[in-house]
Amino acid sequence: MFSWKIGERLMVFIHDFDTIKESFKSIDLVYRPQVEYLTFIIGNFHQGLLLANGPYWHSLRRFTLRHLRDLGMGKSRLVTSVQYEASELVNSMKKTAGEAKPISSDLRVAVINVIWQMVASKRFEFDEVQVLRYDNALAKYAATFEWVTLVDIFPSMKSILPRPLLNILTKRNDHEHLMDVLKSHVKTSIDEHAKTLDINNPRDYIDEFLIEIKKEKNSKTGLTLSEKDLIVCLADIFGAAFQTTATTMIWGLFYLAKFPDVQKRMQKEIDEILPNGTQVTLEDKLRLPYTEAFINEVLRYSVINRFILPRTVIKDTKIGEYIVPKDSVIFGFTEAVHFDSKHYDSPTQFRPERFLNDAGKFEAPKEGFLAFGIGRRLCMGESLSRMELLIFLTTLVQHLEFSPPEGETIELESANVPVLNMPNFNQKILISVRKTD
Ligand code: HEM
Repeated sequence: MFSWKIGERLMVFIHDFDTIKESFKSIDLVYRPQVEYLTFIIGNFHQGLLLANGPYWHSLRRFTLRHLRDLGMGKSRLVTSVQYEASELVNSMKKTAGEAKPISSDLRVAVINVIWQMVASKRFEFDEVQVLRYDNALAKYAATFEWVTLVDIFPSMKSILPRPLLNILTKRNDHEHLMDVLKSHVKTSIDEHAKTLDINNPRDYIDEFLIEIKKEKNSKTGLTLSEKDLIVCLADIFGAAFQTTATTMIWGLFYLAKFPDVQKRMQKEIDEILPNGTQVTLEDKLRLPYTEAFINEVLRYSVINRFILPRTVIKDTKIGEYIVPKDSVIFGFTEAVHFDSKHYDSPTQFRPERFLNDAGKFEAPKEGFLAFGIGRRLCMGESLSRMELLIFLTTLVQHLEFSPPEGETIELESANVPVLNMPNFNQKILISVRKTD
């Protein structure tokens, strides 16, 4: 554990799993700090799910989890739509089989479609302009992400520099463009829903939210919600759900291409359990231990969030052996934990079998695993993304084979983006149709 006064703020970094577990699970660390690199994306610190605090956040989190579960999050009733997206993705990838190309944006649209059907009852065609505009804006944001963090390091920049200069320095225009694209997309969906709302037959999360807004004050939750809350929640869900799951999947495809023995073992298991292209369901999970181990190893090894989303303390608080002053920003260092030999043998090796026991059964990591965070602010979409990873990756491996372009290797170095571990999305990969197809 070490602290660092970056600019005007004390940042505390915790590397050790036991200290992270003990402190992040405590009520004292349930708060999110106001850090610019997050508020830039979502725009509003006091509303929504990712950054809000206090009873408002607690009630909204419960409200959202209840409705996402009712809409099938992580449950069998959502399986058909994930299977459909996975099959569409296989069909689209088959069209470019034999050519070395970067993974197409179709994969990201397929992932957006799963969450957007629960939220807005809408699916996009893979080449639909609206969704591609969002995807491009997000890619531009990711490419200039580091500039935003400048304001967190030197918050006084905000008062010293004239706004136009600050905007140029921090590439704010690119980020505002992302928010504009996202907000206009979300606002259109809300307006369409409001016109056709039937309060007795809610279709999706937007409908449930609009019904809640109509109640003056919910006596059970104490929440009074407005359309602004809905916009921020949708932006949060969109932002949190899509980039994370899609990027994990892309890392998974790169690992398959890089480690052919892993891919062969997964193909063998899938071919035996799901012969002749039988579609995978959630019930098959137990019968696919190696595939399940692969998914967990992808989550451990890719560590796309190098840190758990930051927390803060609202009073001086004891963490480990230290008293951490009020308002410090606290980071749980996931990458350090995932590569700690205390928890994993040869941690720098990609080895799915580390999650198999002697009987060949999958054993979920109990200690030293932080891909979805920990404690009361644990990721709200873990069951959804695990379900997507299972169905998408199994279906892709069933029908396609992934390898490096001839004479080349797959590079696993991270793209130069702070905080996140992003692959080089322009890297080419060769997709072949499997003979069994
Ligand atoms: C592979 C996919 C994903 C990864 C690796 C991931 C990871 C994370 C992490 C590390 C956090 C911070 C947790 C903490 O502070 O302890 C988080 C929070 C969150 N995630 Fe995810 N996530 C994924 C997918 C999703 C999906 C599909 C959703 C959709 C519902 C989602 C919604 C959220 C929300 C709303 C929060 C904020 C929770 C809060 O502050 O109360 N995530 N996620």
